[in-house]
Amino acid sequence: MKNIFLIVFYISFTFTTKIVNSYICSDDSRIKCTADKFPKGLTIKKVFELDWTEEQKMKAVEKAFQLFGAKGYGSYKGGSTKRDKFEGGQVLDVFSGTPANLPVIFHNEMGYTMAPPELVAFMCFKRAEVGGLTKIAENSRVLSLLSEDLVTKLKTLGLQYIRNFSDKNFKSPLGIPVYQTWQSYFEEEDINKVISQVNQQENDKAIILEDGGIQIMMTRPAFIAHPPSGKEVFFSNVIDYHGFLYDEYEDKPFSKLPYNLRPFHCLWGDGSEITDEEIGEMRKAFDDSTLFIQLKEGEMMFIENLLLSHGRTSYEGKRKVGVLISPNVHRKELERQMLNREEL
Ligand SMILES: [Fe+2]
Repeated sequence: MKNIFLIVFYISFTFTTKIVNSYICSDDSRIKCTADKFPKGLTIKKVFELDWTEEQKMKAVEKAFQLFGAKGYGSYKGGSTKRDKFEGGQVLDVFSGTPANLPVIFHNEMGYTMAPPELVAFMCFKRAEVGGLTKIAENSRVLSLLSEDLVTKLKTLGLQYIRNFSDKNFKSPLGIPVYQTWQSYFEEEDINKVISQVNQQENDKAIILEDGGIQIMMTRPAFIAHPPSGKEVFFSNVIDYHGFLYDEYEDKPFSKLPYNLRPFHCLWGDGSEITDEEIGEMRKAFDDSTLFIQLKEGEMMFIENLLLSHGRTSYEGKRKVGVLISPNVHRKELERQMLNREEL
């Protein structure tokens, strides 16, 4: 019986691969497109029925992810937030990230790491009552909207991502897990071991802060090799890591802190500040490239992480959305694959 289900599922999956075309900037009110075309690298498909059991739904989304070419599952170790898995599978709950009343700013998944996933998929189990739309932007389009000066800085300087961790004896000012403790994040109680562990990583540096917290600085290129196209593509967390984001929290609990002491921040790769004008220009380029998508319950969205950024709007009500990521691939491995491709 189970095999029959999988065969039927496989056939229906194969024959509906192009379903995404019906969503291209149509008059479907679920999708408001400010970009001029539906981005490459984005596919939306229905993968389960609402009356299926939770177990069947989880199996269906996992199967769909592998059929789509995921080749296993990646790890969020080193991710911005701890994510819980839904019961009975690999699907992670997106709820543990940014609070519902705030938008998730555009980013590439784990774009601040040395080994991001190539494929990300979101699936909708329950829509929010208000809002909660997924936002997609094609990185190449965003780049094309930036001034030459900014593109040159991104190419030549790269980016430095900063993360601050509290000591477990200091409470987060917000009471929400934006300030993770270094003890829980690194699963280690000895601060010197954490510092030396981070400093062993290529391009990473850690220091102990005055209040017993830890600051880590990760220097990364703002571009990444994309073997299928043979190009270096814009790839970053520049606007969602930048400290301005904390000015949007209600009551502005972080406003007295300089950017570099807020939970996350992003600088140019040489350690200089990205100015308000520069970050404003980047935000505008992302906003002007936005595709808003309201997934229906039962639908799954596959995103080529190296080509597309994603985010979401704020929402109200209960929302149940899961995420799967494909295995993490080291930036050097992507470069190697791209060189091999060029030699063929
Ligand atoms: Fe994400």
